[in-house]
Amino acid sequence: MMRGRGAEWATILRLLGTAADTAGNVVLVEGEPGMGKSLLLAEAATVAAARGTAVATGRADELGRLTPLGPLLSALAEWPPPVALARGDSPDGPGLLMWLAEQVRTTLERRTESEPLLVTLDDLHWADPATLMALRTLPSRLASHPLAWLLARRTTSEYGDSGRLFDLLEEEGATRIRVLPLDDGAVAEVIADTLGAAPGEELAALSAQAGGNPFLLLELLTGLREEDAVRVRSGVARLTGTALPQRVHTAVRRRLGEVSTKTRHLLEATAVLGRSFSPAYAAEMLGETPAALLPALEEAIAAGVLAATSDELMFRYELVWRSIVETVPAPVRQALHHQIERNPPARQPPRHQRADGSSAETLVLLSLLAWDEGRLSRGLDLAREAAEMPGSGRHPQPRAVLTTMLTDLWLLDEAETALAGATEEAVGQPEWTAEIPVLRARLDLTAGRLGSAIEHAEAGLTAADTLGVPALAASALSVLGAASLRAGDLPRAIRYLKNDLARGPQGAPPYVRLRSELAAGRINEAHGGAASGMSSLSRVYDALPRHTGALTSEPTAAAWLVRVAMAVQDERRADAVVDAAEGIAWRNPCLLNPSVAAAHARGVRDRDPEALVRAMTEHTDPWARASAAEDLGVLLSADLDARDLAVDSLNSALVCYGSVEAIRDAARVRGRLRGLGERRRHWVRTDHPVSGWASLTGTEQAVCDLVAQGLTNRQAAEQMFISEHTVAFHLRQVFRKLGIHSRVELARLAAQQSVRPDH
Ligand SMILES: Nc1ncnc2c1ncn2[C@@H]1O[C@H](COP(=O)(O)OP(=O)(O)OP(=O)(O)O)[C@@H](O)[C@H]1O
Ligand SMILES: [Mg+2]
Repeated sequence: MMRGRGAEWATILRLLGTAADTAGNVVLVEGEPGMGKSLLLAEAATVAAARGTAVATGRADELGRLTPLGPLLSALAEWPPPVALARGDSPDGPGLLMWLAEQVRTTLERRTESEPLLVTLDDLHWADPATLMALRTLPSRLASHPLAWLLARRTTSEYGDSGRLFDLLEEEGATRIRVLPLDDGAVAEVIADTLGAAPGEELAALSAQAGGNPFLLLELLTGLREEDAVRVRSGVARLTGTALPQRVHTAVRRRLGEVSTKTRHLLEATAVLGRSFSPAYAAEMLGETPAALLPALEEAIAAGVLAATSDELMFRYELVWRSIVETVPAPVRQALHHQIERNPPARQPPRHQRADGSSAETLVLLSLLAWDEGRLSRGLDLAREAAEMPGSGRHPQPRAVLTTMLTDLWLLDEAETALAGATEEAVGQPEWTAEIPVLRARLDLTAGRLGSAIEHAEAGLTAADTLGVPALAASALSVLGAASLRAGDLPRAIRYLKNDLARGPQGAPPYVRLRSELAAGRINEAHGGAASGMSSLSRVYDALPRHTGALTSEPTAAAWLVRVAMAVQDERRADAVVDAAEGIAWRNPCLLNPSVAAAHARGVRDRDPEALVRAMTEHTDPWARASAAEDLGVLLSADLDARDLAVDSLNSALVCYGSVEAIRDAARVRGRLRGLGERRRHWVRTDHPVSGWASLTGTEQAVCDLVAQGLTNRQAAEQMFISEHTVAFHLRQVFRKLGIHSRVELARLAAQQSVRPDH
């Protein structure tokens, strides 16, 4: 019998009452696994039928995702598909889907001509895209029919398309019910229903461990009854033992069976630590870094076993936690206990703690989890908090993570400060000799200081190899690849890529892996065209919308991913990127960059000049501004009347690329301008020699002139408004091209050169 759902049930009764009306006829039910969603739907169907309302019930299931419109068709008893299909007067291919959706609509119209109908659809978190799309419009299109909808979905940490469908329907007036844990009164009623008596103190305490989840509670009570572990005396049910019934273990094991082996091991090990735990300590116990644990932790959270509260990780239900502890094989448990005794959490307190006991390490981990899911503001706040925790001056990790986030968001001044802090904290800690240069390299790359970026990334790579940290080596290589590509050195980029792929960034946390894959995709695309880029990007696309690390790693990532998908006519992936980018913007209203990045992606997808103008003017990154201007120019070039505007946009792109020394990109834009009949010769010639004096680029010649006059790198940098590192970078190119090794040789060559009439 359903207990304690007074408010929810009242809403559903109102829905049934209005089935004959025209408005307010959608009720959305959502909640965690086992909360009682299906029971609410079943009760509603029973009551409706008893009142003479026709009922159509359908549900999505995990394996049915490949059957388009499956839940709707089965609800309407049109599965196997309508006779028309068999008769052969149905279209095939993409047209079939629309045709089927039309069939669903006309069937619903027909069925509601003479009598009201209640449609209940359960487990929509597993629904196929066609079903979700149909549900997006059916309720409003059939608003004038006596039709009521009752839709249910599970909520886990994964929001997903069904979550967005519910948002949209709610905006249009649907009522949303969140099915929450049962309160103590309802729990007592369920106990009385099941055991025929009120619980004694211990049984009440044990039942409370189900946290008000009806499924867990019923498994517990039924299990206790089956094992004869409760006795009823004088109307009170009392426990006869202390062990949990087998039935609870079976249910918990079934849930754990849904996660990977690694995650299950993590859960077993951390369960021994206690119901809530510090990820840093768990990592130490398992001999891993907290970042390496990230994928497994995420999986456990998505499965609803762990919960990331605002600042710690804990087992969502006490009963589940106990069951895991009790079912860890005894020798494993003993080994874990020995380990804890040797190195107990209490003897190595977290380096810094805030009032509620959570440590900087925990905050850092939570900040990375939030970041990876596109909750950037939250991630940034947590990282800032971790970095500012009193006493945190001893460990560089919080500031290192903060530096990465600030760099991605183009908050470069604050990033410099954070990096300076991390660098200071890392003094004397050899294990940081790789990470600090890699952070510096990424920051320099973002700020457009390519030479310096390459120099630091090389240093980071060497150190990462010496220390044997593949994730850091992968980060360094992705910076090297991106910087060489930007500097127009494709062969070098390809060398790094090969190196990177050979090592394989597997094992690295999602945000590192996705970045590496994005960098690899960019190089492949530059080298072999869109199809070749696509081939290495499938994981980046498929991780969306849950893992958005690639999209947030650079301001033009989303637009670029859309462009590549469109070049190979993969509209679905292009849309997925736009949706994910807009999702990030929507979740982070206080940040400018995500909304500009989304506008850029949307502009490319929808060929929308206004969105591109917004991107072109609002991107913080000059290179991203150039990229948007180029997109706008390309879009306008297709329109004869807009030719002048197209040339203007491409010219701004050219100037902008030039300002950040993006040689390859500038060359491409020049090609586009030539295509429009415009000639730009001054910057790089395509038939350029590769060595000797004539092979020097404009910037290299300028560096040359200044250095040959005896200026130091710093003085030359000041004159040219670029960094000292960039000067050094260009100078190395000059030495290589001229086949010389010193400034003295350069000065001599320059002197000879200047007496030649053509220079
Ligand atoms: N309010 C309630 N009172 C008594 N029993 C309940 C209540 N809600 C749910 N139950 C029982 O708890 C069990 C789980 O409920 P149900 O299957 O409806 O959960 P659900 O939310 O649909 O879960 P899932 O997400 O796994 O589909 C069922 O046996 C159901 O009968
Ligand atoms: Mg259910």
